[in-house]
Amino acid sequence: LLDPISFFAEKMTSAEIRQSFLDFFREKQHSIVPSAPLLPSSPNLLFTNAGMNQFVPYFLGTEHAPYDPPRAADTQKCIRAGGKHNDLEDVGYDTYHHPFFEMLGNWSFGNYFKAEAIEWAWELLTKRWAMPKERLYATVYKPGEGDPADFDQEAYDLWRALFEREGLDPDVHIVNGNKADNFWMMGDTGPCGPCSEIHIDLTAEGDTKGSLVNQDDSRCIEIWNLVFIQFNAETDGSFRHLPATHVDTGMGFERACAVIQGTKGGSDFSKLASNYDTDVFTPIFDKLTELSGKKYTGTVPAVGRRDGLSEQEKIDVAFRVIADHIRTGSFAIADGILPSNNGRNYVIRRILRRAIRVARTIGLGSDAPLLPQLAPVVIEHFGDAFPELKERSDVILENLETEELSFGRTLDRGISLFEDAADKLDDGQPFPAATVVKLWETFGFPLDLTQVMIDERGLSVDAAELERLTQAHKDTGDAGDGPDTISAVTIDTHVTSEFIGYESDSVETTVEEWIESDDHTIAVVSKSPLYVEKGGQLGDTGSVLFEDGHEISIIETMSIGDALCLRLAESPVHRPNKLVVSLDTERRRGIESHHTATHILHWALHKEVSREASQQGSLVAPDRLRFDFNGKALSAKQISAIETAVNERISRNDTVSWQEVVHADIRDRDDIMQFFGDKYGERVRVVQIGGETGDLTGWSMELCGGTHVRNTGDIGLFKIRSEGAIAAGIRRIEAVCGEAAVNYVHESIDLLKEEIQAALDKLTAANNDLEKAGADGIAIPSVDVEELEGDADINGINALLVELTCHRDELQQAAIDADKRLKKASAGAAAEIASEWLEETLATVEDGSPKRLVGLLPGDNPALIQETLTGLKRRQFDGVAVLALVADDTVHIAAVVDKAHTSQFQAGKLVQELTALVDGKGGGKPEMARGAGKATDKVDAMLERARELIA
Ligand code: SER
Repeated sequence: LLDPISFFAEKMTSAEIRQSFLDFFREKQHSIVPSAPLLPSSPNLLFTNAGMNQFVPYFLGTEHAPYDPPRAADTQKCIRAGGKHNDLEDVGYDTYHHPFFEMLGNWSFGNYFKAEAIEWAWELLTKRWAMPKERLYATVYKPGEGDPADFDQEAYDLWRALFEREGLDPDVHIVNGNKADNFWMMGDTGPCGPCSEIHIDLTAEGDTKGSLVNQDDSRCIEIWNLVFIQFNAETDGSFRHLPATHVDTGMGFERACAVIQGTKGGSDFSKLASNYDTDVFTPIFDKLTELSGKKYTGTVPAVGRRDGLSEQEKIDVAFRVIADHIRTGSFAIADGILPSNNGRNYVIRRILRRAIRVARTIGLGSDAPLLPQLAPVVIEHFGDAFPELKERSDVILENLETEELSFGRTLDRGISLFEDAADKLDDGQPFPAATVVKLWETFGFPLDLTQVMIDERGLSVDAAELERLTQAHKDTGDAGDGPDTISAVTIDTHVTSEFIGYESDSVETTVEEWIESDDHTIAVVSKSPLYVEKGGQLGDTGSVLFEDGHEISIIETMSIGDALCLRLAESPVHRPNKLVVSLDTERRRGIESHHTATHILHWALHKEVSREASQQGSLVAPDRLRFDFNGKALSAKQISAIETAVNERISRNDTVSWQEVVHADIRDRDDIMQFFGDKYGERVRVVQIGGETGDLTGWSMELCGGTHVRNTGDIGLFKIRSEGAIAAGIRRIEAVCGEAAVNYVHESIDLLKEEIQAALDKLTAANNDLEKAGADGIAIPSVDVEELEGDADINGINALLVELTCHRDELQQAAIDADKRLKKASAGAAAEIASEWLEETLATVEDGSPKRLVGLLPGDNPALIQETLTGLKRRQFDGVAVLALVADDTVHIAAVVDKAHTSQFQAGKLVQELTALVDGKGGGKPEMARGAGKATDKVDAMLERARELIA
């Protein structure tokens, strides 16, 4: 028989488990706070990776926790993936690792400490959630040689007393751990302290006596980490005591659900509890089964086994990978982390591509993209706890679909390239690293995805060779992790070419190979000045010149391995081994202006808005730039301040220089912008603006592989065209510079002048009408648009734009006012006319029941119809009336019938029939109806028919 608590716990859904955690701590006076977004506010983090991230200032004491008492609890969305420690490859092969997970946590900010944290954790687990206490173990910090701080005697004593009280042997249930396991640090620096973790024995017998604690064994897992924050890890490696002590706890939500749901509320351990056997994942599995006809059976390969899996084992791994990754992807996209080629965005792309590939190989999907069909389950199931999923469901589905379609285009060819290469290998021969790189470059296969495929076949790859090959691509300092475009061409070449386009626009070169591919001829050259699209900067175009004077345009440059390949617009008759390659310099100078302007914009954004506003993506084209950053909407004042700052820097005509440096030498310099942490190669390129050439003292310095102008003055004018949101917390600036900016400014000025003139004309016309109607006109602001001129510099132009905008707004408002006044005046006039007309007409109407009136109203003011209807009502006209008026080439018709006669005549029916006679439409209620038609020549016939109808 189950005890009552187990019985209750067993029935809890995951939503109820989450809620019961929050309720428990609410009862203990904790404020319940929302999860922070996955996009971290700290520039040093790839993703929000712990519940405590959002509370760091409270721990450091730089801000006060705004809760009374200073306690909080929440469930925090976390992603731990990417960066150095990346166990993405393990996902799906075990039951409890997820890149995305929820972390339930409770916090004390200088309030309660170890005693309460330990006591309450125990109470929640054993009393409310019915976890068998004899299966629980607590770890305590015991420093090793050189580790910080002392043995955590306080925690040890508290646990000892607790276990004794519960009748359990403290010597068995307390396990000591060193710095790696029991000293929690957010990163190399920041708030930290010793921790006590609670582990649960999930074996059938539950008699492991602590021997599996911290052994990376799925039969004994950590469920809750209680961190006692006491120190701040400083940059010099020392640990400074914080002014107050704090509590930071984190419990894996999915693991808690697994333990509660997978053990029948702590009563049945015959089957190993798995995160995937909970309703966190089963709704996604159900949908996958519905779509594929395949079933999840929960088999898990032995630790480390990747190859030779049975069909069902493969299906079960695939189900776990897909269900895990669709959750990660949906939550990330909802928080504005869209799959693309850099940094955290590339981590999301890698995760989604792995799901797409595994679905394809296992035959889980059909032709329609799978992920957008699964995401609605995630949105529905988690949308109450995380409303951003529902709010941004369109963006989620759209991005998933785009990602799946674009990867799908090359996926099959990539898979077969992989299979062919793998089939050719002799026993024990490593998989060729060059093919891994090719899959990455040409087919968009992230490196870790290919690693998974290699593991699945029980193969290996030469890691050093792979490192060497991939490094070559990263050495430009462009931290793109993959190619921006997946070229549809399959080219095999091993040429090593030199890019000389930082210095030269044109070069004589040898053609190493001529390749025919699809419809094009490709020249693989030893040297080329044409930039290959990368890091947001568009690729160059140009031409090749043959000795005989023949010239052919280059429509695209690609880099394949180390080779630069020029795709030509036409196939040359002769294929010499020498030619001259030149780039389209005008286009390139435009690109360079916009690229350098992007760096200055980034600098200005830090100066005028925030240091935290960092680049999320960019596009650099010959005639425009796009810059995405994280942050809030910019005010008009900020936009103008940014423009002014950028233009001021341009006018200084500072030198733009670049140089290659060893990354390790500059990695810690925060005056050099670098966003991709460890992902840079050994040597990187720094682009510096200002300072002395090459001494790294510029006011703007950024790691960048792109091309730039030589002096900021070359940029000319800079102008922002728009600023807006593209995702939650992500803004986009679109700007132009040089000639494009001057053109844009001229267009804006012309447009404003046109709008001013139009408003002026409208106002004059309205004033004329007002005069005719005998009413006062509106004062016309005096503006002579032609007189308005700005100074040539940006301040002069901006002042002019502002002045013109003010005039336009003022005039448009005046025109609106005049229009209103005119309407009022004409309504007044109409009321008078209607009244006169009614006096005259009603005098001629025969007495009777009902009275009958059919009439064409005078003049061409449509307001007259309404005024006449009002007049009839006021005179309590008891009968049936049909009114018509011709205005603006339209016949307006109205009918009224007093209530007493609606059984005899219905206004709606009358109008319906009459409007049809003037090629129009209309209708309404029995008492009142209106309509209109275009056939003004048929008015008389229509009125004749009206008389007949009501006779
Ligand atoms: N900060 C600790 C962790 O992330 C406890 O919340 O594990």
